[in-house]
Amino acid sequence: MKNSQILFPAAATLAAVFAVAAIAQQPAAPATTQTSAPAHHDHPAPTNLQVLPKNLTGEQVHDIMHKWEAELGTNCAACHAADPKNIGPNGKPRLNFADDSKPEKATARKMFLMTEEINTQYISKIENSGDPVTCGTCHQGHLGPVPFKPKVEDHDHDHSTAPATKQ
Ligand code: HEC
Ligand code: HEC
Repeated sequence: MKNSQILFPAAATLAAVFAVAAIAQQPAAPATTQTSAPAHHDHPAPTNLQVLPKNLTGEQVHDIMHKWEAELGTNCAACHAADPKNIGPNGKPRLNFADDSKPEKATARKMFLMTEEINTQYISKIENSGDPVTCGTCHQGHLGPVPFKPKVEDHDHDHSTAPATKQ
């Protein structure tokens, strides 16, 4: 696969967004006018994007959020703070998605930039690489990645000889 074709879920979404934005040169269309994925409810346009492209529609942000949620095996409230002044129909406070008070949200922004850099600066420069890094590559469905423990029985080679000098 050519480097230019490397896509990971978020990048694929973003690439599509840039293409649409380039053609339309219009502010983000409301989710209801989109022909893709049926909107089960309306997603307002984002107001506080700092790392994702600012022209994403509410629906596109929502799709990315659902991927992060799945790849980290968590839910929206892990990164988004509840707003005690905004009580939903179930009597519980709604989440204020634009609010930045949870440290996990700040970490997720750094993680997104890191993942982008890993892919654009390193993975895409490996010949024939077709498997970009996603949140799930490291997180594997956990909010905090589980440390890798190698199998002990694999460690059966001999260390008695001096390390080979580099060719
Ligand atoms: C791993 C952390 C994380 C999880 C889980 C997460 N989000 Fe987010 N969310 C973020 C970050 C970070 C941003 C800001 C992105 C930026 O700055 O470009 C954001 C932004 C948003 C925004 C845009 C807010 C605005 O007005 O700017 C919405 C809406 C949103 N998230 C909804 C959700 C929903 C719904 C879920 C659950 C399905 C969810 N998020 C799960 C981290 C998360
Ligand atoms: C290269 C591996 C790697 C990738 C890719 C990665 N993460 Fe992480 N992430 C980590 C590690 C390791 C930690 C734990 C850091 C620590 O707390 O010591 C972490 C921690 C986090 C935390 C804090 C969890 C907590 O318990 O507070 C969030 C939130 C997070 N990552 C979100 C993301 C999101 C969202 C993505 C994709 C956009 C992502 N990560 C991609 C390795 C990764």
